[in-house]
Amino acid sequence: MSLVVTGATGQLGRHVVASLLAKGVPADQVVALGRDEERLAGLAALGVTTRKVDYADTAALAAAFEGADRVLLISGSEVGHRLPQHQNVIDAAQAAGVGLLAYTSIPHADTSGLALAAEHRATEEAILASGLPHTFLRNSWYLENYTDQLATYAEHGTVLGAAGDGQVSAATRADLAEAAAAALLLEQPKEVYELGGAAFSLKELAATLGEVLGKDVTYTDLPAAELTKVLVAAGLPEPFAATLADADLGLGRGELYVEPTDLAELLGRPATSLAEALRAAR
Ligand SMILES: NC(=O)c1ccc[n+]([C@@H]2O[C@H](COP(=O)([O-])OP(=O)(O)OC[C@H]3O[C@@H](n4cnc5c(N)ncnc54)[C@H](OP(=O)(O)O)[C@@H]3O)[C@@H](O)[C@H]2O)c1
Repeated sequence: MSLVVTGATGQLGRHVVASLLAKGVPADQVVALGRDEERLAGLAALGVTTRKVDYADTAALAAAFEGADRVLLISGSEVGHRLPQHQNVIDAAQAAGVGLLAYTSIPHADTSGLALAAEHRATEEAILASGLPHTFLRNSWYLENYTDQLATYAEHGTVLGAAGDGQVSAATRADLAEAAAAALLLEQPKEVYELGGAAFSLKELAATLGEVLGKDVTYTDLPAAELTKVLVAAGLPEPFAATLADADLGLGRGELYVEPTDLAELLGRPATSLAEALRAAR
């Protein structure tokens, strides 16, 4: 069986390739796509086939999908430009007659009000319109969105957000990647998986940070416009800062909350918890 992973050079994609190999898929059955030559070389060293492919390059996509049985489309990182890129991947998968197209989406993509959800919803609709057998891997937030900020939380003793008491079902990239690999290998995966770990509010994030860091950490809830300003002052570009603040509002509405069952089912175990991830990051 030939399995193609797009975005394989990215942080999630590299974990997916590693998970496929760890699950016993022969390296010569894995095709890893990306643009970054250094990271492609790192993947080639694992024995998998690599192809340098930009989503804009329809001929390269067609060549990469030749003989593919299953494709995992890892959503692109160029927010605002992703739908035509994803459409090219869907068209190439359709032309190649792949047996399954898996897509990394966002929780409740069909109803979510997050600005970030619009491209995911449109991509899911395009996949449905293609008629391809599919599975939507609706990943909630990465735990790394929080654990990567450990030093900042420790320095300031506060978590800033605009999420109120909303809960986020964050999970590590490694767990979400392992789940994606598991779904790719199921004979008939479900059409939709809502994927996330045990949920926590940002207030609970602050409390867990306090336990792990051994110091008081508080949660400060700000209006979204105020949070955007703080993030811009910290160096983020304004559109990105506004998107993050909008996502916190969605978190507050429960739109990044999912039951932990789908992820645990694909993993065969509970997902890594917030406390475990924070301890590992420390
Ligand atoms: N759930 C969350 O919290 C969360 C957070 C951030 C992002 N995401 C979404 O999840 C995806 C995967 O996350 P990640 O952490 O692995 O992101 P990442 O490390 O930025 O990886 C993105 C991957 O997409 C590839 N890519 C981007 N634009 C491309 C293009 N035009 N043509 C071909 N390949 C392209 C990149 O290839 P090269 O590096 O080789 O150029 C890379 O392999 C992101 O792209 C984004 O859609 C989710």
